[in-house]
Amino acid sequence: MLARIASQRLLMVRQAFRRSAQAYRSFSTALNYHIDSPDNNPGMPWEFSQANKAKVKEILSNYPSNYKRSAVIPLLDLAQQQHGGWLPVSAMNAVAKVVGIAPIRVYEVATFYSMFNRSKVGKYHLLVCGTTPCMIRGSREIEEALLNHLGVKRNEVTKDGLFSVGEMECMGCCVNAPMITVADYSNGSEGYTYNYYEDLTPKRAVEIVEMLRKGEKLPPGTQNPKRIMSGPEGGNTTLLTDPKPPPCRDLDAC
Ligand code: FES
Repeated sequence: MLARIASQRLLMVRQAFRRSAQAYRSFSTALNYHIDSPDNNPGMPWEFSQANKAKVKEILSNYPSNYKRSAVIPLLDLAQQQHGGWLPVSAMNAVAKVVGIAPIRVYEVATFYSMFNRSKVGKYHLLVCGTTPCMIRGSREIEEALLNHLGVKRNEVTKDGLFSVGEMECMGCCVNAPMITVADYSNGSEGYTYNYYEDLTPKRAVEIVEMLRKGEKLPPGTQNPKRIMSGPEGGNTTLLTDPKPPPCRDLDAC
C-alpha cells in the first residue's frame, strides 16, 4: 500500500516537473531564439535617429577608444528606447557596427539581460517584481489583476498596442514591496521613463493602468499615502531629533 502511494506521488512530481520544464523552455525560447519575420530580419534597415547619433557619440566618449565594446549595454538601451521598447535583429546589428564587434557578441548581451526585449512590448511595459519579498507581499495577486484587467497573458501586448505585462526579478526596492516598474516607450527615447510604483495593491495597480491610458501624470514611488518614501507608515518612531555631532578633541586644550 505504502509503496503504491509513494509511486503515485513520484509520478505526480514527475508530471509537475515536466509541465514546469515545458513552460520554462517555451519562455527561454521566446527570449533567446530568432526567427526571421517581416518586421524582424537582418535585411530591415535600421539606424540611430539624428538626435540619437549625438547621444551615441556621447556614450562612446565615456570609454577608451580601444574599449568601445564596453558601450554595448547603453547603446542597446538607447536602440530599444528608439524602437518602441524592443530590439529587432537589425538594431542589434547596428549597435555591433557602431562598436566594431561581431553581431553575435551583441546578441549574447541582448539575450542575457532581461531588460532587453526581443519581441514587441506595449507602449507601457509593466514589469511586476516576482522575487520573494514582493511575492509574499502580494505580487502574484497584482500580476493577476493586471492580466485580467488588460485581458492578456504574460508578455502579450494588448490589441491597442498600449500595454504589456512582464515579470522581473528583484528591482532593489524590497522595503516598499510589492512593486512594479512602468517602462514608458510612448514618446520615443526623448520622453522615455522607467518609474517604480511601490506599496501596491491590485486595486491601485489597475488604477495606475487607467491613469496611464488617459495620459495622466502619476506620482512614482510609494502608493501608500501614510508613508514618506521608505519611512515607516504613520511617520518616524525613532531618530526623532538631530543626531549628536561626533565627539571632537579640543586641540587647543591638548
Ligand atoms: S523583491 Fe521586489 S523589489 Fe526586491
